[in-house]
Amino acid sequence: MSESEGAVISELGTLAGRASTEGASGARSPSARDAVRALRPSQIREVANAGFGVPDVLPFWFGESDQVTPQFIRDAASQALADGATFYTHNLGIAPLREALAGYVSRLHGDTRPAEIAVTSAGVNALMLAAQLVVGAGDRVVAVTPLWPNLVEIPKILGATVETVSLTYGEDGWVLDLDRLLAALTPGTRMLMINSPNNPTGWVMTREQQQAVLDRCRQNGIWLIADEVYERLYYGDDATVAPSFLDLATRNERVIAVNSFSKAWLMTGWRLGWIVAPEGVMEDLGKLVEYNTSCAPSFVQLAGIAAVRDGEQFTQSVVAGLRASRDYLVTALQGIPGVDVRAPLGSMYLFFKLQGADRSLELCKTLVRESGLGLAPGSAFGPEGEGYVRWCYACDTGRLDAGVARLRQFLETRAGL
Ligand SMILES: Cc1ncc(COP(=O)(O)O)c(C=O)c1O
Repeated sequence: MSESEGAVISELGTLAGRASTEGASGARSPSARDAVRALRPSQIREVANAGFGVPDVLPFWFGESDQVTPQFIRDAASQALADGATFYTHNLGIAPLREALAGYVSRLHGDTRPAEIAVTSAGVNALMLAAQLVVGAGDRVVAVTPLWPNLVEIPKILGATVETVSLTYGEDGWVLDLDRLLAALTPGTRMLMINSPNNPTGWVMTREQQQAVLDRCRQNGIWLIADEVYERLYYGDDATVAPSFLDLATRNERVIAVNSFSKAWLMTGWRLGWIVAPEGVMEDLGKLVEYNTSCAPSFVQLAGIAAVRDGEQFTQSVVAGLRASRDYLVTALQGIPGVDVRAPLGSMYLFFKLQGADRSLELCKTLVRESGLGLAPGSAFGPEGEGYVRWCYACDTGRLDAGVARLRQFLETRAGL
């Protein structure tokens, strides 16, 4: 379907949605259009709400470190503000940041030019922009799950349908059935979304799998959106970055890589990210940025330059700390009966099987109410996640210890019931 056809159907869908909820006279109470009302609410938020009023909750449910952004980046932002960097910028970002990012991406993944970089208001905005660029109403999108909900819900906001191919859990942890994914990549598919290293499972796609998927996407003209925001949080082969589609693709094909300052430089609250995409779509991407946010905040962009220019050592120290925390938590959890956990190769989460979690939302609410332990329910990441819980280990070992003790006690008390 062409994008203009998509726009017409989208508009019809909007009118139909309005008619069905408000009636022809518009007399019933106002409501959002159907596609928006059908979006899944955040189950992690639901668990967090259940924990309100509980004293001393240990929150392992959100995907961020408990450490603040390093001083040199905060100083750069303060200096930028002192210098008056308070104005709109170019839609695609200030030139020195695009240059710095082009250098960074080139070092990690091969030759990339500033003209192939767009600065965004963090990863989630980059994902929305990438989807808006290529997906319209009625389009078919494929996603590998379990998956951070935003990736599945964003195409639905645009009226697309999303088919999922689930990873499976076994002796080697979470693995992909490559043949199933390739079979799902039919000629009528518009877009594939891959998030590797993956939230929530920590699964990392191998280079060979990436090559096979890229070949199939090329064959069938499918846009590939690679969410690589956790690429630096990789624990395999002494490498400093996970395998990336950017290593294999040219910069002039249907591949868009999405990235963020949130994880590698601990900048979640700053809302800064970027896109690597073919130069040929940049003008259109700039229009979408204009109509979404107009630009990322200028002083935040200047701080981003400091992060990219001076932050390599810091990033590597973050990853070393996360690797140690992952190993520590895996060992501690493996000692608890009723927990089935393996060490994944990437990201900052353990997504493990937990006895009694076949209704994981209910279990996580009970855990926070009764034990003050804040975990994310597996079902928040799609039906394939049911039976599992997610634990973000980006914190010190003292806090991990306290969490493990609470889980152990909770399970023992339940077993004794
Ligand atoms: C898989 C994935 N992609 C993208 C993001 C977006 O992060 P941000 O918007 O903070 O850059 C997140 C955040 O947790 C994530 O888990």
